[in-house]
Amino acid sequence: MAKILINGGPVLQGEVWISGAKNAVLPILFASILGSKTSRIGNVPHLQDVTTSVELMAQMGAMISIDERMRIEIDPTTLNNHEAPYDLVKTMRASILVLGPLLAKHGRATVSLPGGCAIGSRPVNLHIHGLELMGADIQVRNGNIEAIAERLKGARIVMDMVSVTGTENLMMAATLADGITVIENAAQEPEVEDLANYLIAMGAKISGAGSHTITIEGVDELGGAEYSVLPDRIEAGTYLVAGAITGGKVKVTSVRPETMDAILDKLQEAGAKITCGDDWIELDMQGRRPLAVNLTTSPYPAFPTDMQAQFTALNCIAEGTGVITETVFENRFMHVQELQRLGADIQLEGNTAIIRGVEKLTAAPLMATDLRASACLVLAGLVARGETSVDRVYHIDRGYEVIEEKLGQIGAKIRRKQIT
Ligand code: EPZ
Repeated sequence: MAKILINGGPVLQGEVWISGAKNAVLPILFASILGSKTSRIGNVPHLQDVTTSVELMAQMGAMISIDERMRIEIDPTTLNNHEAPYDLVKTMRASILVLGPLLAKHGRATVSLPGGCAIGSRPVNLHIHGLELMGADIQVRNGNIEAIAERLKGARIVMDMVSVTGTENLMMAATLADGITVIENAAQEPEVEDLANYLIAMGAKISGAGSHTITIEGVDELGGAEYSVLPDRIEAGTYLVAGAITGGKVKVTSVRPETMDAILDKLQEAGAKITCGDDWIELDMQGRRPLAVNLTTSPYPAFPTDMQAQFTALNCIAEGTGVITETVFENRFMHVQELQRLGADIQLEGNTAIIRGVEKLTAAPLMATDLRASACLVLAGLVARGETSVDRVYHIDRGYEVIEEKLGQIGAKIRRKQIT
């Protein structure tokens, strides 16, 4: 176990290089199972969830190698085990993304039900319903999803709710189905589009990815592909908030600004001067305290739920009162009680947090509860007087590559302390 210790106060200045997107690389790794040839994936972030995914695929028999630059080579043709066991799935819910590829390529899959997590019950009924519409026979018993399909058939699927991995699972399954699949009310996240681009590079016939209607014409076989994962817009947004919360000037590089409009709009509302190039974004607070912002989380292209905790932290020390409403997950304010330990003035009313900005926060020992909440607590520690400790940092390592190095590079007084 480890803790992250932060001494608040420094104004952050400098450049941060952004890694590949966690929520793109995970579906892309599992999508390689659909291929009949080797794939090579680049710009892979060094994250616990990537390690877990590689372990899962190796356990299923795929041949995987990773070089020193985190480029992953996957030969899926040796895969001979169609099970994703509970001991791995329980550590990473995204393991559900093996379901579609295994079923489409091998005609069967046994995947442990992911179960809930800190932020919500996280059901997978939309994944299962969509596969059943495509002709899969699915039984849920003993905590497992047991799926069989001779060959999936194309279907028209209207998603009850916008689901990112639901859309991804069904899109992957449809690439090898017999006929055409149309997914209506599809998730439009850039990570969905990135997955589609990788599948197309493998030979899939997909149109409309990134819109609310995706059409997939099934083919008999997919090859392999060389592919580089898109940059992580949530990691980039997190470091821009680090600049904003300390009143500093931070430039994030190797990003796609066009995937971050909703985040950049809110940062400008908070008083940041934002300039963008093709693959970089610079935030300059000009030494000013941020202004409080109101926001409501919604599916892309609206404000992302994965940036909600970070903006809750920003509002804690902003000028004025900010109202944040979380509409995607039912329990994504676990960070509020931790922020209150630092002296934040936050009132929770259902799925809304009313945050009255205070002049200063005071350091305290904190407990991380989930990935983005832990990033939020680190951000708050950057401006809390004294030394803040964030415990259970395994949460943060799932989604942020060497966060203390990247923050340290731009002036944060931050270090990791092993405790057991
Ligand atoms: C993906 O989770 C991301 N994870 C999440 O990122 C992200 O917060 C979320 O999308 C929303 O953008 C990955 O991509 C690996 P959903 P996912 O299905 O796909 C309900 C992070 O911090 N729902 O879009 O699991 C669900 O309960 C993580 O990087 C059903 O009811 O989220 C939620 O209320 C956290 N039934 C809503 O839909 C289903 O079958 C949206 O969930 C599926 C989802």
